[in-house]
Amino acid sequence: MISKLVSGLNPSATVEIQETLAQLTAKGVDVVRLNAGEPDMPTPAHIVDAGINALREGKTRYTPAAGILPLREAIAEKLERDNGLHYESSGIVVTTGAKQALVNALLAVIDPGDEVIILTPAWVSYPDMVKIAGGVPVFVPTGPGYQPDIRAIERAITPKTKLILINSPNNPTGAVYTEEKLHALADLIAERKLWVLSDEIYEKLIYKGKTHTSVVSLRPELAERALIVNGFSKAFAMTGWRAGYLAAPKPIAKAATILAGHMTSNVTTFVQWACLAALGGGDTCIEAMRDVFAARQTVIEGLLNELPGFTAGPVDGAFYMMPDVTGVFGRTVAGVTIESSAQLAHVMLEKAHVAVIPGEAFFSPGTLRFSYCVSEADIREGISRIGQLLGG
Ligand SMILES: Cc1ncc(COP(=O)(O)O)c(C=O)c1O
Repeated sequence: MISKLVSGLNPSATVEIQETLAQLTAKGVDVVRLNAGEPDMPTPAHIVDAGINALREGKTRYTPAAGILPLREAIAEKLERDNGLHYESSGIVVTTGAKQALVNALLAVIDPGDEVIILTPAWVSYPDMVKIAGGVPVFVPTGPGYQPDIRAIERAITPKTKLILINSPNNPTGAVYTEEKLHALADLIAERKLWVLSDEIYEKLIYKGKTHTSVVSLRPELAERALIVNGFSKAFAMTGWRAGYLAAPKPIAKAATILAGHMTSNVTTFVQWACLAALGGGDTCIEAMRDVFAARQTVIEGLLNELPGFTAGPVDGAFYMMPDVTGVFGRTVAGVTIESSAQLAHVMLEKAHVAVIPGEAFFSPGTLRFSYCVSEADIREGISRIGQLLGG
């Protein structure tokens, strides 16, 4: 029998779409994939070279479970330089993607029954990660522009609330939290003496002249109860390398290292050396990717708002847009009366051959997540197919 823990986890709501996608691809159908959550660019050459050189130099043995010291030092410097956050290398743990940083951070601080506030729409994995750690996810919807609703968060806080999870720039919405909201969040977290987990994995993907601010940098006392998660996947197009990191108070970093020591040991050794090259290589490669995403963002935002029944508010970051599609509900599309965003996503895939993720996967029915990790031509083709489907 499957354990109670695992049987309590939700199978990914994206699975059905993935299966249909695989079947269509196997049949040779040309599907426009607006569902991917990873940059479509290759990993920059200097990072690849550093990985290959590390292998050739025999950097193939175990390292400390928390990661090689030069990388932890480089991460501490990056946090100081980019985010105004002060960490020593002993507060840094290199992890197998940001995912492992998230899970181990939660395992390190959450006790059974502790409540964790998650703002919705939210990335698919957060609630299940909280459950793995024995915690109870408490969903709080965001307000207009997918910005945090501070009053609603205040109302959701109970004596059992241990931690609030923040993700800006956000997956799935693309929202970048405003300075005003971040200050309000920082004040609330400090006053209520909560822990905060700030997932900053999309920090480099911000457009329209906006910049990223780490909520933890706004009130120094937050650092005592802050878990900063970041990684290499999105900023450096390194999703398959599986490298991320946690910055935390030293006892928490030590606890996360103990967990990693038992479960995975170190992140693949040559990957760590490639990450060191990524951090040391300057932001030129990031800026080139950011320019591409920024141009696509403008295109997709305009096109989505032209679709009948779709409303896509302006957002500033990540590589996602999440239009409200409730305007399509009740209409008949390709012979189907649309009653949910999951159904609309299904019809879009089956009939127009465009893949997106329904908002249900992100605890946000009535929306669809569009990712723009494809060429501008593919974005135009995908949205034009949806336009024809809805119009015809
Ligand atoms: C919000 C968010 N956090 C964390 C991750 C995990 O990233 P990684 O590839 O570093 O494990 C993702 C990946 O999609 C994400 O969207």
